[in-house]
Amino acid sequence: MDKLTGTERTKRFYEEKGWKEEGGESVDRKLFGTKEDGPIRVELYKLHMDRVRTSLLSAGGLPNLLECGCGGNPDQQVVALCSRYTGVDFSEVGLDMARASLAHVSIPHEFRAADVCKLPFQEGQFDAVYTAHMIYHIEDPKAQEAALAEFLRVVRPGGVVVIVAANPRPLLFPIRLARRVLADTPLLGRLLNRLKSKSPIPYQPMPIGWMRRRLQRGGEVSAVSYALPSNQFNQGVTEYRGLGRLAWKTIRWLDINHPRLSAYLGNYVIYTCRKAVATR
Ligand SMILES: C[S@@+](CC[C@H](N)C(=O)[O-])C[C@H]1O[C@@H](n2cnc3c(N)ncnc32)[C@H](O)[C@@H]1O
Repeated sequence: MDKLTGTERTKRFYEEKGWKEEGGESVDRKLFGTKEDGPIRVELYKLHMDRVRTSLLSAGGLPNLLECGCGGNPDQQVVALCSRYTGVDFSEVGLDMARASLAHVSIPHEFRAADVCKLPFQEGQFDAVYTAHMIYHIEDPKAQEAALAEFLRVVRPGGVVVIVAANPRPLLFPIRLARRVLADTPLLGRLLNRLKSKSPIPYQPMPIGWMRRRLQRGGEVSAVSYALPSNQFNQGVTEYRGLGRLAWKTIRWLDINHPRLSAYLGNYVIYTCRKAVATR
């Protein structure tokens, strides 16, 4: 297999399992879906989607937008912003589900099966590229780098690339931070990774500095918080009482008042890269 393509194990997981329904919900949603049922969570989810929306609209006008790794879950709020929407994924099962979910939508849209490391589009074809929770499921950092280069290639000068990705070094979550630092240590990391139970799909989030440096090849980059809590924290910690309530209130305060700092403190980041316009 060509080294610079996405991860075969991820593709197989989504073809065979991830986008299949179990009890009225896809396996992907069951594993990775976030709870939005408490008032703080509802408020923060809205805040994060507002940040994504503002970034995508900053290209000017309603964008002709490409979503990479939409799977069976094209973001309906993002679709609603577009003059035209194209969704790409290497899971055909996911794309069938995506087609069904947009069957009622009148905004012009299409889906293409492709690997995001080799996008079947022309240079500068889109006003905006959006991708959420996809890039860190590509196992090889060199292939992640190829995907980032592809996003920057297919967006026009002055357009934007907006990426929601995991932060492997969340300073507010010391156990997670320590685990990841150990996992990234060459010899010890290999041993620990062999011992620990296998996650259903590869998880290789790259540090914020690494992401910034690659994106800066295309233009100016900003990084703000998408979500401070990890998925497990979100699913497991109540915001209604005790320490959980205090933790959620602190997270809310940090996220609202310090979105740039919170990118480094928490588990998920929104990167926005505005592609440079060539000057003579
Ligand atoms: C965790 S799901 C995220 C789906 C959706 N973006 C969301 O936020 O709910 C990851 C998706 O990315 C797709 N994916 C991962 N690597 C890919 C690649 N190299 N090329 C195309 N799709 C890829 C998977 O097939 C899967 O549908």
